[in-house]
Amino acid sequence: MEERKWPGPKGMIPEPDRNAADAKMHNRRYLDELLVEMRVIDAFVPDLTLKLFNETFASPIMMPAFSHLNKVGITGRTPMQEYAAAAKDLNLVNWVGMESDDEYASIASEGARTVRIIKPFMDHDEILKQIAFAKEHNAIAVGVDIDHVFGKNGKYDVVDGIPLGPVTLDDLTSYVKAAGSTPFVAKGVLSVQDARKCEQAGCAGIFVSHHHGRLPFGIPPVMALQEIRRAMPQTAMKIFVDCSIETGYDAFKALALGADAVSVGRGILPGLLKEGKEGVLKKVNRMNEELSEMMGYTGIRDLSQMDSSVIVHHGRHL
Ligand SMILES: Cc1cc2nc3c(=O)[nH]c(=O)nc-3n(C[C@H](O)[C@H](O)[C@H](O)COP(=O)(O)O)c2cc1C
Repeated sequence: MEERKWPGPKGMIPEPDRNAADAKMHNRRYLDELLVEMRVIDAFVPDLTLKLFNETFASPIMMPAFSHLNKVGITGRTPMQEYAAAAKDLNLVNWVGMESDDEYASIASEGARTVRIIKPFMDHDEILKQIAFAKEHNAIAVGVDIDHVFGKNGKYDVVDGIPLGPVTLDDLTSYVKAAGSTPFVAKGVLSVQDARKCEQAGCAGIFVSHHHGRLPFGIPPVMALQEIRRAMPQTAMKIFVDCSIETGYDAFKALALGADAVSVGRGILPGLLKEGKEGVLKKVNRMNEELSEMMGYTGIRDLSQMDSSVIVHHGRHL
């Protein structure tokens, strides 16, 4: 089969078509198949302002919950702090994944409003300890990436020598309780069933994601998003989406289909690793322009007006 030329930076090119289990590839395809109709009469340059957890941000495009980038030694710099500094400059929500308390504190001290995502450690006390630490450091929200339970060997995964474990509904409820007045977000929801359980546990938000392909043959997160929005139209939970959001056009599609905000993931990596904060500023500023262009052409003046009926899939309005 002829290899397809994919859009996006080099690091984002999915494996060749023969890897049918690769959820990243299915996701990229699905996002590319979503087309957009034009509603230009009476349209103006839109307002991208995001209101979230009682705070105001410049745009619904957020930083990813990355981790480990300071350890890999590719740059000899501290990319985790660099993208946090970009989030601060751009007034965007910053997310941080698996990092030690010390590293988390250092990243948070860059001054961006930050969400800490904690691994589903087998040791639940460690999760509670990290939630408390994030609260002490004024995290805007805390959460657990519930999609990182299993490894490729089908057993509970081990990361940096630390065992991960299962997450039950009772566990989730206890994390929400420990977070108290700080919103708790379950990251890695890909079904209506899990979304309902998150709501039952009292989560303030869910992150619809497969963590760039942890689940073989995983459905595209924006597809799961539509199902969750349809099944739970009244939910008070904030719904975030990531995976292959590489451009403002991808962001627009997820937002139109019901996301409150989205994270760009590996899309910022080439710029971040090459140019640090400046690379991230360039990438996200361009994404904001693309999002504004798309909202303008579809007559959507602000995030409250997002409307899934502008999206067409295989000739059918969603
Ligand atoms: C280097 C790297 C480290 C990551 N670390 C974490 C992590 O610690 N916790 C987490 O929830 N997600 C982590 N992720 C997943 C991202 O938060 C995000 O879900 C994913 O990258 C989105 O897909 P995309 O890269 O296709 O945009 C990591 C991703 C990368 C590339």
